[in-house]
Amino acid sequence: MSDRKALIAGNWKMYKTCAEAVDEAKALVDLVQPMDDREIMIAPTYTALAQVSEVLKGSPVALGAQNMFWENEGAFTGEISAPMLISAGCSHVIIGHSERRQYFGETDDTVNKKIVTAFNHDLIPVFCIGESEQERDLNQTFSILDKQVTKGLSNLSSKDLETLIIAYEPIWAIGTGKTATTEQAQEAHRFIRSLIDKAFGSELAQSMRILYGGSVKPDNIDELMAMPDVDGALVGGASLKADSFSNIIKYNR
Ligand code: PGA
Repeated sequence: MSDRKALIAGNWKMYKTCAEAVDEAKALVDLVQPMDDREIMIAPTYTALAQVSEVLKGSPVALGAQNMFWENEGAFTGEISAPMLISAGCSHVIIGHSERRQYFGETDDTVNKKIVTAFNHDLIPVFCIGESEQERDLNQTFSILDKQVTKGLSNLSSKDLETLIIAYEPIWAIGTGKTATTEQAQEAHRFIRSLIDKAFGSELAQSMRILYGGSVKPDNIDELMAMPDVDGALVGGASLKADSFSNIIKYNR
């Protein structure tokens, strides 16, 4: 670990009713204390955001959304805008998760529009990238990451990107129980940092947080966090229960 402040983020995906989300958020708040070297965030479903935001007030847990649209308002049935997320209490927004890319037609271009919009509204984007199993087998991991970073961050300057968080999530490790080895994670994270260095300079590359995601559990977080370029985790399944998520949050350095 570097002196970058870690972020442990929970992606609740399409789980939990409002009442369930409120209960789990309360349980989490009871289990965690503010810590100098790490931040915490949870991303419940849209419908639970406003209520969960009330629970998180005064706690060290920040609120994020799992997606958003790039227009502020208009005839876009079913979509949610940045001002709406802010009014519901969000400070963060996950953008370009592989499930959005895979099932809902997100492209590098739509991801880019959303990242630009997040910055325009002072929302902190958690920008997800990662290769499929087939791409890894074909030795395309680096070229895929290069394309996702280059296109996802086009039209942005290093000044815009100060708060950007990247989440490296190899698709083959998401929800499968197959975690990348610490070496695979470190290699990808170092490569992503080198891409940021090349495009935006070393100051930004050194300060930018890069999270790992894909089957993170209480029993593998310590070794992942020991890697020099791993600055936190984006956790799906193991974030759904406050006790397992708080154990991940309390990883040992
Ligand atoms: P997982 O999901 O922890 O259940 O693998 C991670 C994610 O999709 O962000």
